[in-house]
Amino acid sequence: MLIRDATNADLPAILAIYNDVVTNTTAIYDQRPSTLDERQSWFDARGRAGLPVLVAELDREVVGFSSFGEWRSRWGYRYTVEHSVHVRADCRGRGFGRALIEVLFPRAAALGMHMMIGHIDSAATASLRLHEKLGFTTIGTLREVAQLHNRWLSVVAVQREI
Ligand SMILES: CC(C)(COP(=O)(O)OP(=O)(O)OC[C@H]1O[C@@H](n2cnc3c(N)ncnc32)[C@H](O)[C@@H]1OP(=O)(O)O)[C@@H](O)C(=O)NCCC(=O)NCCS
Repeated sequence: MLIRDATNADLPAILAIYNDVVTNTTAIYDQRPSTLDERQSWFDARGRAGLPVLVAELDREVVGFSSFGEWRSRWGYRYTVEHSVHVRADCRGRGFGRALIEVLFPRAAALGMHMMIGHIDSAATASLRLHEKLGFTTIGTLREVAQLHNRWLSVVAVQREI
């Protein structure tokens, strides 16, 4: 397993993983699949802000990605980031998710960050368990704050000091 910084060439693989999660899970609250242009804009914005986008590689294929960005835009929140992680469906349960989050901690520390926040769909059992194992504390559930497929969804907020 190799974890490294993403490049432009990884965006099609990142897009495919992202869109599979959008289409087949409730882990990303988007209405429709994303486009390469949208992923490029996201990637460029992270780059301009000096924020990491990391990929996990297996046999030279991208099988997952992670990143963090600002949690809230007001100045007082500048030492808190919100992260995300997604692993290709056929590679889940093999340690990629854990590795992709673990490498975010030193990157956040190097940027002087203090707290990492995650917002996890309450049905995403694997993600909830993974974050618990990585030392995130569960803050609570934001009940029915989103709607997808005519169903209300609840979000579990977790946090971990860097
Ligand atoms: C959540 C996700 C990122 C986890 O990545 P992964 O590579 O499958 O997880 P790992 O193999 O690193 O597992 C790490 C820990 O998570 C937990 N875990 C993983 N899969 C699990 C499952 N299906 N059920 C319960 N716990 C699970 C385990 O505690 C595991 O630790 P262990 O192997 O020591 O028992 C991945 O499953 C995924 O992309 N899911 C779909 C999208 C998603 O939910 N993204 C997260 C949004 S917050």
